[in-house]
Amino acid sequence: MSDNKILLEAIDVEKDYFSVMRVDASLRHRIGHKLFGWLGFLRYSTKLWEPRTVVNKVSMKVYENEILAITGRSGAGKSTFLHMLGTFDRPTRGDILFREKSIATMTSTELSDFRNDSVGYVFQFYHLFKDLNALENVLLPAMVSADYGRKSKDFRNRALHLLEQVGLSHRLTHTPSQLSGGEQQRVAIARALLLEPEILLCDEPTGNLDQETGEKILDLLFHLREQESRSYVIVTHDEEVAKRADRHVIMQDGKVISETLQERSKASEP
Ligand SMILES: Nc1ncnc2c1ncn2[C@@H]1O[C@H](COP(=O)(O)OP(=O)(O)OP(=O)(O)O)[C@@H](O)[C@H]1O
Ligand SMILES: [Mg+2]
Repeated sequence: MSDNKILLEAIDVEKDYFSVMRVDASLRHRIGHKLFGWLGFLRYSTKLWEPRTVVNKVSMKVYENEILAITGRSGAGKSTFLHMLGTFDRPTRGDILFREKSIATMTSTELSDFRNDSVGYVFQFYHLFKDLNALENVLLPAMVSADYGRKSKDFRNRALHLLEQVGLSHRLTHTPSQLSGGEQQRVAIARALLLEPEILLCDEPTGNLDQETGEKILDLLFHLREQESRSYVIVTHDEEVAKRADRHVIMQDGKVISETLQERSKASEP
């Protein structure tokens, strides 16, 4: 399954968020205000906010052409970590390497090339444009690319091919409101694959679907992996996905607490 070459690597990645402190702190600042006036208020207000480390020293490798599943309880830091892998969010500490190059040292052009050319993203709630039909939604990432005018025919052919792959050739002109949840997610997957990313990051791709439709979406992702070589990182609550993936990482309280290489992938163990 995996080609043993590292595509993405997170090294001791951490993310802090500032959150409002406990009630006793708020009481402290109120009492501070009462006793010492505005000076006291300011002094104790600084304690109103405290950083919370929601991703805590996570190191993880994503190999070429593998399916990596990340599970864990709600609030474990899975989505935050995934956003950092896709460079939609910056780590507070630590580094992410793409083909051994630190994302932190990339120029803004390199970074936007990475986001546009190398990463695709699939969300739980599809995020399709409601006024565009299925074909137009899939073509959208190409429409904003500089090459669109010159290559519009190629892009259209690829969009049609992908919509066929996801079984929606008969729904090209349907808008999202005329599609079922599973169909909308299939459009979203085709859209994410239009520019042939090297890695597809999926955040609960089946989280909003019934079990049967969810399984079909998974079958589709696994089928697509057979068609085009690509790595997948799938954040999920679904144990079935975790079982079918090549590798399964469990996160808890911002940390990785377990990593399992599935039996069938051990032959190509890195
Ligand atoms: N923008 C933010 N500001 C402050 N705290 C945040 C922010 N985003 C997430 N958090 C907190 O970070 C923690 C991890 O959130 P995250 O969304 O990564 O969890 P998750 O594992 O994806 O959970 P779920 O399975 O429910 O989607 C949570 O406690 C959340 O409240
Ligand atoms: Mg999440």
